[in-house]
Amino acid sequence: MVGKTISVVGLGKLGASMAAAMADRGFDVIGVDVSRAAVENLNAGKAPVQETTLQEYIDRNRQRLSATLEHRDAVMKSDITFVIVPTPSDKNGAFSIKYAATAFRAIGKALKEKKGYHTVVLTSTVLPGATRYGLLPLLEQESGKKCGKDFGLCYSPEFIALGSVIRDFLNPDFLLVGEFDRKSGETLESYYEKIMENHPPCKRMSIENAELAKVSLNSYVTMKITFANILTELCEKIPGGDVDAVSDAIGLDRRIGRKYLTGGLGFGGPCFPRDNVAVSFLARELGVRNEIAEATDRFNRTIPARFVEKISRHIPSGSTVAVLGLSYKPYSCVVEESQGILLAQALSKQNYTVTGYDPLANDNARHMLGDDIQIKESVQDCIAGADAVLITTPDPAFTALKLGDFRKGKEDMLVVDFWRVLAGELSGKPGIRYVPVGQGSRIRDAENVLEMMWRDA
Ligand SMILES: NC(=O)c1ccc[n+]([C@@H]2O[C@H](COP(=O)([O-])OP(=O)(O)OC[C@H]3O[C@@H](n4cnc5c(N)ncnc54)[C@H](O)[C@@H]3O)[C@@H](O)[C@H]2O)c1
Repeated sequence: MVGKTISVVGLGKLGASMAAAMADRGFDVIGVDVSRAAVENLNAGKAPVQETTLQEYIDRNRQRLSATLEHRDAVMKSDITFVIVPTPSDKNGAFSIKYAATAFRAIGKALKEKKGYHTVVLTSTVLPGATRYGLLPLLEQESGKKCGKDFGLCYSPEFIALGSVIRDFLNPDFLLVGEFDRKSGETLESYYEKIMENHPPCKRMSIENAELAKVSLNSYVTMKITFANILTELCEKIPGGDVDAVSDAIGLDRRIGRKYLTGGLGFGGPCFPRDNVAVSFLARELGVRNEIAEATDRFNRTIPARFVEKISRHIPSGSTVAVLGLSYKPYSCVVEESQGILLAQALSKQNYTVTGYDPLANDNARHMLGDDIQIKESVQDCIAGADAVLITTPDPAFTALKLGDFRKGKEDMLVVDFWRVLAGELSGKPGIRYVPVGQGSRIRDAENVLEMMWRDA
């Protein structure tokens, strides 16, 4: 049932890594992209995108990896096709399937000529109904064939994080397979058995249930992150409050779990914010109340402005602020909805002079921020002359910083450490005003509020 050759349509952040990972597991993989650069890069043995270990995986699987601009070639020569093209959010928060439609039409045309059974798998994130009612008809129209008889169809998203796409793809907590029919699901499951390194459980279900499971998982995680960020604020208002102490304790409860419960900054990146908004859209369309997803989004969007307000209480506008961390997370060059970028923009608007640095995202940040913010080539350059430093991601380039690195800034420098990664190094050190986010001070004001609450008890 499992063929030797797989095709992957879309060689972007997810598709290129999946192609290389599947080649590493012994399959011949043909990548397809409409971008000539992506195809030429892969054929020349170069990673089309930045991703941890992707270049190494390509290097050691060159003979099993190729790429083409022609969907037809790839479908004719493979047994199964994964489609991982963009599904950008539209103005209502839904996902557009226009790129997927173009890909499905091209695959449908190829299926018309192809002899034998072929399985098509949509990996891109879509909302319930999109695969069956938006895309399947295109395959049938173009091929003149019947789904479930002449070809198979699954919706099967991945739960990867940028920066660890290959590791996450090969070692998932579970596999999610939405199947048009039993044969489609069985076929995909047998490929996954050969691809995955960790023998994960495979949940097979209807296409619509799988579409809902994908976006609802991400929406749930954003809710959890937001809960941790509310705890962060509460802890800052409680004398001696410590968000890590609280999260470490409640995270031990198996109903809760510790992952994604670290308070600090909001969530960002190309998936979490938009998947959560899409779940709100879906609920509205279906007449279901979903204030949780809406409140999560609203709270998350207030976070940068709230911190800028707090920073303005410590240092006047006109001061220089260094933002360390411009990608939305460590090990990534992606700056979409990055809290570091949002902070830099908000500070600049309040007339602070802002410098920024990120080990991987400097180029993308420059593109997004324009001339308003000076992007520096090293942490040291970024800190030099700063009145305040914000550490926005727990990137190893920042967690390894020493007190001496901060001495290059101004005397009495403010250091706002959103993830408390330098507490041991900077807390209580002369010449540094170290502010670990999510920890309450012992100031009398905070104690007064608590005392007032209980005075007449
Ligand atoms: N990046 C992530 O972390 C992540 C995680 C889970 C799910 N997803 C989902 O995966 C999908 C792809 O995301 P991505 O980040 O890899 O996107 P991307 O923009 O990095 O890459 C998409 C690639 O598809 C190509 N493409 C567009 N139309 C095409 C067509 N008709 N035929 C062939 N190639 C085509 C583009 O040229 C590009 O190279 C999206 O639906 C996204 O929501 C992404």
